[in-house]
Amino acid sequence: MSDSALFPLSEEHKMILDAARDFAKNEIAPIAAEFDESGKFPSETIKKMGDMGFMGIEVPEEYGGAGMDTLAYVLALEEISKVDASHGTIMSVNNSLFCHGILKFGTEEQKKKFVTDVASGEKIGAYSLTEPMSGSDAATMRSRAVRDGDEYVLNGRKSWVTGGPVADYVVVYVMTDPEKGHKGITAFIVDANKPGFVRGKKEPKLGIRASATSEIVFEDYRCPVENRLGEEGQGFKIAMSVLDVGRIGIASQALGIAEAAYEAALEYAREREAFGKKIGQFQGISFKLADMKTRIEAARLLIYNAAMAKERSKTSNERFTLAASTAKLFASETAMFCAHASVQIHGGMGYSKELPVERYFRDAKITEIYEGTSEIQRLVISRLELGLR
Ligand code: CAA
Repeated sequence: MSDSALFPLSEEHKMILDAARDFAKNEIAPIAAEFDESGKFPSETIKKMGDMGFMGIEVPEEYGGAGMDTLAYVLALEEISKVDASHGTIMSVNNSLFCHGILKFGTEEQKKKFVTDVASGEKIGAYSLTEPMSGSDAATMRSRAVRDGDEYVLNGRKSWVTGGPVADYVVVYVMTDPEKGHKGITAFIVDANKPGFVRGKKEPKLGIRASATSEIVFEDYRCPVENRLGEEGQGFKIAMSVLDVGRIGIASQALGIAEAAYEAALEYAREREAFGKKIGQFQGISFKLADMKTRIEAARLLIYNAAMAKERSKTSNERFTLAASTAKLFASETAMFCAHASVQIHGGMGYSKELPVERYFRDAKITEIYEGTSEIQRLVISRLELGLR
């Protein structure tokens, strides 16, 4: 985060920014490489992040959160992700995909029962839309829920669930009426520690390795009617509207990765010598740095724009899909651009595990894929611009 003149931060925002920066430096930086290598879920630091209020930044205090606004959320998420994108992913899913969805669409009982412990970091929340044969085309899911008295019986296989191996609660999207296509999808809040919830294979991933990801399988899982989120058939719209929020989070994560890659490259360009000069004195390097910096600042503006649009939507109820998708598209491609350039500027050292630059490169890639690929963001943006939706 730079102190942009366009956005003089309030005292409250400066406070959360500093708290996230200090926490990331003192608590996450020393363990990031080790957890990336082992792929172990960083439960201890996540609990501490809960104590700091980072796991439910926008959740009202009465439901265990910090009661702050969207700008506070994106500032903190950027700082955490700058040091370790895995922690950023876990934080983003808890805040955006889990807590936000229940706060927006849930009943009072659901907010008390499920949001409070997740926002305080005591428990882990997850979101599950994707299936092995249904990723970008999310409405084609095959998992089923059939009503049986006061319960629904869920069956099916979900994939790529962030937090799947450790989650306590999952908001899952399942077909209740396949005849109706996307209008036949319903959302449920499921307790992962009940019979019929089976944690499937853990994904061996290229990046964000400490944010455990797995399949989950429902085998006659019985979900009480009171744990249905929204009405029957409303699930797809809930999933999409929650992803609008999620995408602002991923954009902030991407910005954090881009900045980490950029700052490492800048430092290296100032120190490393070749052909009798600091390498930053060669245009081949300095122009790369200029392009990285420019994209980072542009991504930041798109993210703040999306954060403000989301903040306004709290009273106007207006959609902010365009702002979220443009921010996510640009920031994730900026992360990849910067990580790629940073490895190149570092040469062999960029390829070595002795420096975190190769981790930034591996972590950056996921931001162009999850919560809607760059192709899906282009589809969403162009459809809106052409008036096709
Ligand atoms: N907010 C509210 N409603 C929305 C919406 C939004 N952002 N986007 C669409 N809708 C509504 C539409 O208005 C439409 O409503 P009507 O039926 O009343 O007309 C309905 O949803 C269907 O919309 P579309 O016709 O546009 O749907 P589509 O089938 O063409 O799909 C899509 C649109 C954009 C491609 C969508 O499927 C999509 O976003 N795909 C990507 C899915 C994705 O991001 N997956 C990532 C999962 S999470 C993850 O990565 C794992 C993790 O744990 C982090």
